[in-house]
Amino acid sequence: VSDGTFSITTPIYYLNGTPHIGHAYTTIAADAAARWHRLRGREVRFLTGTDEHGQKVLEAAQKRGLSPKEHCDDLVVVWKAMMERFRIDYDRFIRTTDADHEALVQSALQQLYDRGEIYRDEYRGWYLIKDEVFVTDKEREERIATGELFESDFRMFEETNWFFRMSKYQQQLLDTLASRPDLVLPDNRRNEVLGFLSKPLGDLCISRPKSRMGWGIELPFDRDYVCYVWFDALLNYLTGNNRSLDGGPATPFWPATYQLLGKDILTTHAVYWTTMLMALGVELPQHLFAHGWWVSGDGQKMSKSRGNVIDVNLLADGFGVDATRVFLLREIKFGADGQFTYKGFLERYNADLANDLGNLAHRALSMSERWLGGAVPERQAPDPTLQALARKTWEAYTPALEALQFKEALEAVFDWVRAGNKFVDTAAPWALNKAGDTAKLASVMRDTLEMCAMAAALLLPIMPDKAGELLGKLGASPDSVKDWLARWSRGEDLVNVLLPSTKLTVGDPLFPRLHELPPAIAALFEAEPASAPAPKTQEKPVSETEIPLPELPWIEYDDFSKVQLRIGRVLEAQAHPNADKLVVMKVDLGEARPRTICAGIKAVFAPETLVGRTVVVVANLKPRMLRGVPSEGMILAAGGEVVTDLVSAQAKPGDTVR
Ligand code: MSP
Repeated sequence: VSDGTFSITTPIYYLNGTPHIGHAYTTIAADAAARWHRLRGREVRFLTGTDEHGQKVLEAAQKRGLSPKEHCDDLVVVWKAMMERFRIDYDRFIRTTDADHEALVQSALQQLYDRGEIYRDEYRGWYLIKDEVFVTDKEREERIATGELFESDFRMFEETNWFFRMSKYQQQLLDTLASRPDLVLPDNRRNEVLGFLSKPLGDLCISRPKSRMGWGIELPFDRDYVCYVWFDALLNYLTGNNRSLDGGPATPFWPATYQLLGKDILTTHAVYWTTMLMALGVELPQHLFAHGWWVSGDGQKMSKSRGNVIDVNLLADGFGVDATRVFLLREIKFGADGQFTYKGFLERYNADLANDLGNLAHRALSMSERWLGGAVPERQAPDPTLQALARKTWEAYTPALEALQFKEALEAVFDWVRAGNKFVDTAAPWALNKAGDTAKLASVMRDTLEMCAMAAALLLPIMPDKAGELLGKLGASPDSVKDWLARWSRGEDLVNVLLPSTKLTVGDPLFPRLHELPPAIAALFEAEPASAPAPKTQEKPVSETEIPLPELPWIEYDDFSKVQLRIGRVLEAQAHPNADKLVVMKVDLGEARPRTICAGIKAVFAPETLVGRTVVVVANLKPRMLRGVPSEGMILAAGGEVVTDLVSAQAKPGDTVR
């Protein structure tokens, strides 16, 4: 890309479900960067979209009884709506089912085939459906042993397939990583890639036989196969940026300036993608930036089966779109992991937005209205201390934002806002007004209004609506910001951009203070007592001295509330292959797939008598291997030394027990 161009991409999102906070996060980050560069007057390309082929999407469609294309056409609407709601201003939304993309993928495959970069071979291996990747036997065993994955997450495939000679590019990739230390960012991710490349790199299986999985782009040189979903998906970055492989017109948008991705898809980008580009003779992107993961407040990975996924629409309903955008980018360093809690969001909202920014804007506008006729006042010159601070803020903010360090950039803005409130406190315009010192009052109020203007300008890429609203109140507009930024970057005019005599509007506060969690969010905790921060029973604690306590290893209510008990129904039961006392059951917990649970009850229950029974299961007991069989939960049983019965209840699978 030339100097005046900025090209950014997000991963394309699997259409096997609806968007959550993690997807919104990558997209908002890319949007904020794109908006910033547009404001700086650069030609911007911002590409996002959806990943629609492969096993995972096919299975999601089958579950709904739809053809994969019908399923995708239906679901893509939800993704586009999320992006519209979050003010994602992309230049292209690519779908891997778009005709131009399918043509590009076929052209890439044909070129590689013609050059002998693709060959046919037998293949046998474990496929991890969730990630759409093959894994080694060792990796599979390890990930089951740690309880991260279950046996049912893998499929064994044994078939003839087509392979891309990825191994051929291992040294070239190592050399490139050495000569371009900022290709993979941040550094810890680059080291991870180097670690991966310290072992011999294999070739990449890039086909799927249609007889097994036909939802994909057909290989142009073998009609019995479709293209592997990752090989197809990664090429979207070329299609979506108009980078032709057939000698078409040149594009200013490739190589991309930044390609954003989550740390979970580092290898597919830093290794598969880069070597694919090398084989195709196409330039590598300038930077691959891997950001971290949002995890839930208890440190757990968010997933549908855990029921701890944060719904971004709920955040937008409760706190607003702009507050959500700011929170996600402000709360964790771009690159690092972070925990999401609603309470943390509420505190951040009140501190930064309601108190600091909202307050500064309100003070500046309402005092000018009351004492100075509600127009931008004239003044001799800006306060020099403020101008120096403004320069410092600009110098902290700009490089941070350009390096995608949103947290640092936002910290610089909120420091500036806090300095604004301090400036008002110290200058005490109310005293100046009382003393009738109109000249000094006008000067102080103008400086304060200018501080709001600079804050609004710097926040515009991050919170386009609220910053736009603030600019409007100051008699300016998002269009003015382009001009201001150009002047500021030339070193001119800090704290001096508003037009004297322009009308000001006080209006409603930008961010009303929230005294408690928004009702729809608070309701979540009532529906899910296990995760309630402060259970009702604790509101009026019974004094411990009033109850004579027998000696027991007492636990707190919070300890108990960590245990998730759920109703299950036994679907299948059989003797454990390697343990005399154990029965292995498949138990329906109302989840996407039944759990495998081992229980030491064979002495009392013949396995076949268990089928159809309703049981109570400890649903969040960490899974473990029991003599080679995974056990993903525990069944509650009653009795003394010997179990006499299983605990049961009249309820349906998935219901909670509390
Ligand atoms: N389809 C592939 C990407 C193909 S790109 C050629 C894919 N899709 S995804 O929908 O599963 O994930 C897309 C992005 O969302 C990834 O960058 C992933 O890291 C991000 N996130 C999903 N959950 C996340 C969190 N909980 N936190 C932060 N981002 C995470 O992978």
